[in-house]
Amino acid sequence: SKDKLWGGRFTQPTDKFVEEFTASINFDKRLYSQDIRGSIAHATMLGRQGIIPTEDVTAIVGGLKEILRQIEAGEFDFSVALEDIHMNIEARLSAKIGEAGKRLHTGRSRNDQVALDIRLYLRDELQEIAEYLDRLIDSLLFQAEENLDVMMPGFTHLQTAQPILFAHHMLAYVEMLKRDKGRMLDCYKRTNVLPLGAGALAGTTFPIDREYVAELLDFPEVTRNSLDSVSDRDFGLEFCSAASILMMHLSRFSEELILWSTSEFKFVDLSDGFCTGSSIMPQKKNPDVPELVRGKTGRVYGNLIALLTVMKSLPLAYNKDMQEDKEPLFDTIDTVKGSLKIFADMIREMKVRPERMLEAAGAGFSTATDVADYLVRKGMPFRDAHEVVGKAVRYCVDNDMDIPELSLAEWQLFSLMIDADIFDAITVEASVNARKATGGTAKERVKAEIARARAEQ
Ligand code: ARG
Repeated sequence: SKDKLWGGRFTQPTDKFVEEFTASINFDKRLYSQDIRGSIAHATMLGRQGIIPTEDVTAIVGGLKEILRQIEAGEFDFSVALEDIHMNIEARLSAKIGEAGKRLHTGRSRNDQVALDIRLYLRDELQEIAEYLDRLIDSLLFQAEENLDVMMPGFTHLQTAQPILFAHHMLAYVEMLKRDKGRMLDCYKRTNVLPLGAGALAGTTFPIDREYVAELLDFPEVTRNSLDSVSDRDFGLEFCSAASILMMHLSRFSEELILWSTSEFKFVDLSDGFCTGSSIMPQKKNPDVPELVRGKTGRVYGNLIALLTVMKSLPLAYNKDMQEDKEPLFDTIDTVKGSLKIFADMIREMKVRPERMLEAAGAGFSTATDVADYLVRKGMPFRDAHEVVGKAVRYCVDNDMDIPELSLAEWQLFSLMIDADIFDAITVEASVNARKATGGTAKERVKAEIARARAEQ
C-alpha cells in the first residue's frame, strides 16, 4: 500500500480484485482536462492566499500542463491501482515535481474535486447539445421551407383526421426541440455553480478564496453548503431527465419516419446513406437509423433510472455509490449527441413525395370536418352538422366512395343547405388554408411560424 496516496493507515495491500472493482479510471479518465483545469485554479488560489509557496504553484502548473500534453498525446499510462483520474494525475505530478506536487491537495478533497470535474464537463456538453439541437431545428426548417406547398393527412389514433401542411408537421418537432433546448439551458444554470472548497464534507480550515476560484473557472456562483456541495448530483439528474424527454421526441419522430417510408405509406424516402439492406431479401431498404434512435431511447431512460436509484436513500454526504454516476451520465451525453447529429443530417437529406401525400390527404374522409364547418357557416348548429356529415360518411362507406366523389344531388340527400359552393370548401387546399388562427396549419400561418423560428435561430 506504499504506492497509494492514502496508504498511511493501512498495513496490508489492497486485494487485487477489490482494486479493480473499486477503480473508476477506465471511465473517469474522460475528466482529465477538467481535473487539470480545476487543479490549476485551486493551486493558483492556494498560492495567492499564501497557503502554499508561489514557487510550488509554478511547479504544479507546469507539471499539470505537461501531464495534459502527455495524456493528449496518448503517452500517459493510466493505473488501476491509482483508482481514479484524480489520483492518477496527482500521483504523476508528485512523481514529476516532488514536494510541491504533494501540496496540491491542501484544503481540498476528492469529494469536492470530483463534483467540480463533473460540473465542468457537463457544462460544456450542455452547450454543445444545445448547438446540436439548433442544427436539427435548422434541418426541420429547411424541409419546411423546401416543401411549403406539400399537403399530407394529419392523424389522430393513426387514423386520417384532417389535411395539414407537411411543413406544419415539421414545425411541431421544432416546437418540441425548442423546449428541449430550453431544458438543457435551464439545467446549465444549476450545473454552473462551483462546489470546490467544500472539502471532504465540512469545509476547510485553510483561508481559501472560493470566489476567486469561481472567477478563474468562470462560475458565476459558488455553492452555499459544504455537505450539499459534495452530495448533490441533481444537475446530472436534471440533464438525464431533459435527455429522456428529448429522446422521447426523437423516438416519436423515428416511429413516423419508419411508418412513412413503408411501401404502404410511401410519404418519404430516406437517403440510402441512412438505410441498410438485407442479407437475404434483395428488395429491402431498412430504416436502421430511426429504428436505432428509437431503440437508444431505452438506454437513456435506463440511465435516468440508474442515476435516480443510485442517489435514492444515500445519507449525506459523499458515498462511494456516487462513483456510479459517471457511466450513465457519459452514456447519455454520447447517445443524445449521436442521435441529434445523425438526425440533423438524415432529415436534411430526406426526400418527400408530394403526390403520394396529397393523395392520402384527400382520402379517408379527411374533409368531413370541413363539410360540418361549411354547414355551420350556413347557420346550422355544430352538433346537427356533425350528425348530417356522419350520415353522409355512412353513405360513402356503404357505397365504397369518398367525400370528394359525392355529387350535389347526393349531398342534398343529407341537407338542402348544401349548395354547389360545397365543392370549393372541401378541397384539401381549402381545408388546410381555412385554419388560420394562431397555431393552425394554414399556409400563411405556417410561413409566419417558419419566419419566427428562423429569427430565433
Ligand atoms: N472516483 C471517485 C468518484 O468518482 C472520486 C471521489 C472519491 N472519494 C472518496 N472519498 N472515495 O466518486
